[in-house]
Amino acid sequence: MKTFRGFLYQFRTFGLPNNKHMSTAKKDYKRITTKSLFEMKSRGEKISMLTAYDYTMAKIVDHAGVDVILVGDSASNVMAGHETTLPITLDQMIYHASSVVRAISRSLVVVDLPFGSYQSDSKEALRSAIRIMKESGAHAIKLEGGGEVKDSIKKILNAGIPVMGHLGLTPQSIYKFGTYTVRAKEETEAGQLIEDAKLLERIGCFAIVLEKIPAALAKQVAESISIPVIGIGAGNGVDGQVLVLHDMLGMTHEFSPRFLRRYMNLYEDMNNAIAQYVSDVKSKDFPNEGEQY
Ligand code: KIV
Repeated sequence: MKTFRGFLYQFRTFGLPNNKHMSTAKKDYKRITTKSLFEMKSRGEKISMLTAYDYTMAKIVDHAGVDVILVGDSASNVMAGHETTLPITLDQMIYHASSVVRAISRSLVVVDLPFGSYQSDSKEALRSAIRIMKESGAHAIKLEGGGEVKDSIKKILNAGIPVMGHLGLTPQSIYKFGTYTVRAKEETEAGQLIEDAKLLERIGCFAIVLEKIPAALAKQVAESISIPVIGIGAGNGVDGQVLVLHDMLGMTHEFSPRFLRRYMNLYEDMNNAIAQYVSDVKSKDFPNEGEQY
């Protein structure tokens, strides 16, 4: 039986027992910071992360208790309909990030540096990261790659900007890979990925996303570094999970990778609602007397 002191401790530390956000070893944070994520990993609490690109969605995601909102360059696919993440620009990322930042009160907002805004040299990388932080009010940036972008990461970190790394399947390099299949299945690539993860930790990244790699490798990486590892298609042995919001809500339906769990079928539900609206307009059912002045 729980003593009164025990209850008080739980209440202060983790919130009320029936708190909807409560789960094993979960602490209620008013605001998520990079430090909170580190604490979560140390405590064994899994980190939740979802993408968002606009005010209305970000407000719902933040309110539902998601720890990290990623303003991903997947906006290029999801919001703009491009085939890859390559076309989205820095200005467009800043527009999406500003809309998200205006909506949030708890989540940590991380913004992708888009393709072409950091690869040429570290000064350009720093300029791009500063623009994101200054013009959107976001809390951190994410960029793809390991050793090849280490100078840029160091420069950005030296300016006081937190950096999240991204290894494994890195969609900005899709034309180099040629396909979106699972990465690092071979020993050499797996070894390189482990080296890169250790390097990112050593130079000061606060977390790393691992995309579409074998679960056993992702677990090995998460266990060998102290910073949080957030997976997408990387199994359950990592410190947290990220999904693209529109995919997990079932708004997109052409994209069905094995790792995706759909929590709703919004494509069909929205389609039905909109078709009903069209029908109501055509049949003059809408608006009725109560819906006019
Ligand atoms: O842009 C994005 O949405 C991402 C996630 C898939 C991790 O980078």
